[in-house]
Amino acid sequence: MTLSLSKITADIGARVLGVNPADDLSDETVAQLRTALGEHKALVLDAPGLDVAGQERFAARFGPLTTAHPTVPGGETPHVLDVDAEISKANEWHTDVTFVVTPPAISTLRSIVIPPYGGETLVANSAAAYRSLPEPLRAWADTLWAVHTNVYDYAEPRPQRKAAEAAYRETFESVPYESVHPVVRVHPETGERGLFIGGFVRGIVGLSTTESRDVLRLLQAHVTRPEHVLRWSWQPGQLLVFDNRITQHYAIDNYDDQPRRLSRITVAGDIPVSVSGERSRALLGDSSHYSAVPADAVPERSVAA
Ligand SMILES: [Fe+2]
Repeated sequence: MTLSLSKITADIGARVLGVNPADDLSDETVAQLRTALGEHKALVLDAPGLDVAGQERFAARFGPLTTAHPTVPGGETPHVLDVDAEISKANEWHTDVTFVVTPPAISTLRSIVIPPYGGETLVANSAAAYRSLPEPLRAWADTLWAVHTNVYDYAEPRPQRKAAEAAYRETFESVPYESVHPVVRVHPETGERGLFIGGFVRGIVGLSTTESRDVLRLLQAHVTRPEHVLRWSWQPGQLLVFDNRITQHYAIDNYDDQPRRLSRITVAGDIPVSVSGERSRALLGDSSHYSAVPADAVPERSVAA
C-alpha cells in the first residue's frame, strides 16, 4: 500500500492511511512521514498489535530516542514513559520536557487503555498561533525569552491529590531543571516560526511575575484558539505522533476516575534557536542522561543552589 493522508482540520492533524507502524518501513515512507509531520504537526496512525518494541522501532526511525524522562524512571524499557491516569493527568497545556535545554523533537503516544467516554488529547499548532498574532505583537514576541522549569511554584492553590499522584509529582521535581528558551522558536527543519511556551514556563525574562502572567495569557490564548487545536478522540491501538518543537498538548480530564493508559516514546531534539539565531541555554541541571546535550550547553551549576 502507498501512504496517503487525510486531513483532520485545516490547521492541524492528519490521519495516515496505508502505513502500519509495526512494519519495517522503507526510508522513503519515513521521509514522507517526516514531511507530513512538518506540514500537519500531528499524525494519527492505526497501530493494531503494536507493542513497546514496535513503538520504539518506529520512533527510532526519526532519530535517536531520549530516555523516558529526566527524573521519572522508564517503564517496560528505559525509553518508555508510562502515561497512566492513576498517577498523573496532564490536563494542562504544555510542550514536553521544555525545562531541559534539548526538549524532545517528536513525541509518540500509543493508546493502550482508553475510557469509554472522554480522555481526548488536544494538540495545538503553535506556528498557526504565531501567525495569528497581530504584527506588532509578533515582532515583540520575537525578542522575548522565557525560563522553563520542572519545579512548580504553586502560586495557585494545590488541588487535592491522591497519594500516587503526590508521589509522582515528587519524583518529577526530584532534580530541579531550568532552561531559558526563545518565546519564538525557529523550526530546525522547516524554518517555520512558532510560539515556544506552555506549562513549564515560570516567567518571561525581564518582566515581573504579574507582567509575565499577562503576556503569557495573551500569547497562550492564540495557541489554544479552537481553530488551532486538534481534538483527538482515541481508540485503543492507535499512535499519535506530534512535532514537539511546534505544538502544545493537553490531556482532557473528562472521564471520571476510569483507567486511561498510553505509552510515550520521544525522539531527541536539538537546542532551540531564536529568530535572531541565538540558542537556548540550560540554567540549572545536567540533562545529558536524558537526551544528548553539547558539552558547551551544560550549565556550571548542576544542582540546586
Ligand atoms: Fe505531554
